[in-house]
Amino acid sequence: MKEEITWSDHVDHLKRALAGGGVFLVVLDKNGRVNPMTIGWGEVGIIWSRPVFTVLVRRSRYTYDCLLTADSFTVNVPSTGQLKEELLFCGTKSGRDLDKAAACGLTLIAAREVSSPIIEECALHYECLILARKQLKAGDFASTEVLEQYYDTADYHMIVMGEILTAYADEDLLRIK
Ligand SMILES: Cc1cc2nc3c(=O)[nH]c(=O)nc-3n(C[C@H](O)[C@H](O)[C@H](O)COP(=O)(O)O)c2cc1C
Repeated sequence: MKEEITWSDHVDHLKRALAGGGVFLVVLDKNGRVNPMTIGWGEVGIIWSRPVFTVLVRRSRYTYDCLLTADSFTVNVPSTGQLKEELLFCGTKSGRDLDKAAACGLTLIAAREVSSPIIEECALHYECLILARKQLKAGDFASTEVLEQYYDTADYHMIVMGEILTAYADEDLLRIK
């Protein structure tokens, strides 16, 4: 049973997952087709007096196109060590070429408050309403080290900030190690 949580509960689990195999960012394309993509960069915090989940998506991703037209996204975090193959698949294949959720056998179910669905098999979910999008460019970087290390092909990230309207978790699944 997935119970509603406060946005800041289980942030340690989220951080471990981001730093490990990643988590699933789920968004609809302009035709309403669902595209899950693995992300390793993201953060939660308070901005504009509300809880916000921020993700960074490079221009080359199909998810980037989806985020330009979508009104929401969900972030879906597996239990520790679970869904490793699915994370790798969704982090190496593009939704331009195939239906990744179907190929992985992931179960998509309606979210509680946003149009983007969630992935049932995950343990922790954040439903986010997009508040702002900001495209990074070379001139934004104060650090040439970061610029050179991460953007040698000029594939700059778009920063997308979504208000966390609700978050919920299966506490039993989160305890599985
Ligand atoms: C562990 C992991 C973490 C990743 N994190 C990000 C990320 O934070 N931002 C990003 O743009 N791409 C990230 N990627 C790469 C995308 O998931 C990958 O390019 C994916 O195939 C894009 O799918 P799409 O074209 O369907 O959007 C990550 C990949 C892996 C395996």
